[in-house]
Amino acid sequence: MSYYDPARTPSGAPERPAFPASPTLAPPVSPTVGLTGAQAPSRPAGAPSPDPARDLVARDLVMTYGRSGASAGPPALGGVDLTIRAGESLAVMGPSGSGKTTLLHVLAGILRPTGGQVLWRGRDIARMSDRERTVLRREDFGFVFQQGMLLPELPAIENVALPLMLGGVRRSEATARAATLFHPLGLSGLEKRRPGELSGGQAQRVAIARALVARPGVVFADEPTGALDQSTSAEVMHHLTQLAAHTGASLVVVTHDENVARWCHGVVRVRDGRIAGADADDHVAAGPVQAATAVAR
Ligand SMILES: Nc1ncnc2c1ncn2[C@@H]1O[C@H](COP(=O)(O)OP(=O)(O)O)[C@@H](O)[C@H]1O
Ligand SMILES: [Mg+2]
Repeated sequence: MSYYDPARTPSGAPERPAFPASPTLAPPVSPTVGLTGAQAPSRPAGAPSPDPARDLVARDLVMTYGRSGASAGPPALGGVDLTIRAGESLAVMGPSGSGKTTLLHVLAGILRPTGGQVLWRGRDIARMSDRERTVLRREDFGFVFQQGMLLPELPAIENVALPLMLGGVRRSEATARAATLFHPLGLSGLEKRRPGELSGGQAQRVAIARALVARPGVVFADEPTGALDQSTSAEVMHHLTQLAAHTGASLVVVTHDENVARWCHGVVRVRDGRIAGADADDHVAAGPVQAATAVAR
């Protein structure tokens, strides 16, 4: 089976590099982490970083659950400004209940914010219709959850192919494209297994394949390693960050775990629905993405 063929990219979409040929796990602090120079992800010509037209930008995001008024509690988001730059990864950390999941869901168009804007490719997601946001989530965004949320009755290959089929790609082509991801993710030979026949780490790698198969612009991951041990977490983060970098996808990872956050270019800390701090330098991944920084204002 050959790797992903850019010629299969839907017409109009930019040509993208093939998926990495082999999984090579390296510790996150290693200067050799990630791809080799020859495979290094590069920004498309003509789109130097930062490019506001390609970034995901949140402006003064407010989210209050339930009805507004005296009975409403404090807002889950109390005015968040955040820029996730194209092709970069950002860890969102913070105590339980601080608003991380709410932020992720608002950024991803799953929840409509009470106030503020989420700008994606020049449009405000918060003002899109439900139908438009559904298409956006299917075509531009990918999702990885704590427990992979794979469909238990479908073999792994069909779980991965599903987003393509939902987008109208023929089954044979969708499964062929899905198959190209199994080797780079270290999943060769597991194509026909159902989720119940996979280990936790394998299931999360299938979930990563599903999140990336449609070549989204942004991948959102909410505690993607929350149910895994440390070494499996590292393996999953390796694959997630490598595949995202290789395809040029931005990555937003909600996590409690500093070891997980270290795989990302930058970290923001959320407290009581606000950005309480950010650091980029301490968490910059080495290699071709070294110059990248996450921006939190
Ligand atoms: N669907 C909901 N309805 C009402 N309140 C909610 C809902 N989801 C989250 N909250 C509240 O919003 C706040 C932030 O929650 P959440 O975003 O889930 O935090 P985190 O992911 O950091 O644990 C919490 O006070 C939580 O109770
Ligand atoms: Mg949460």
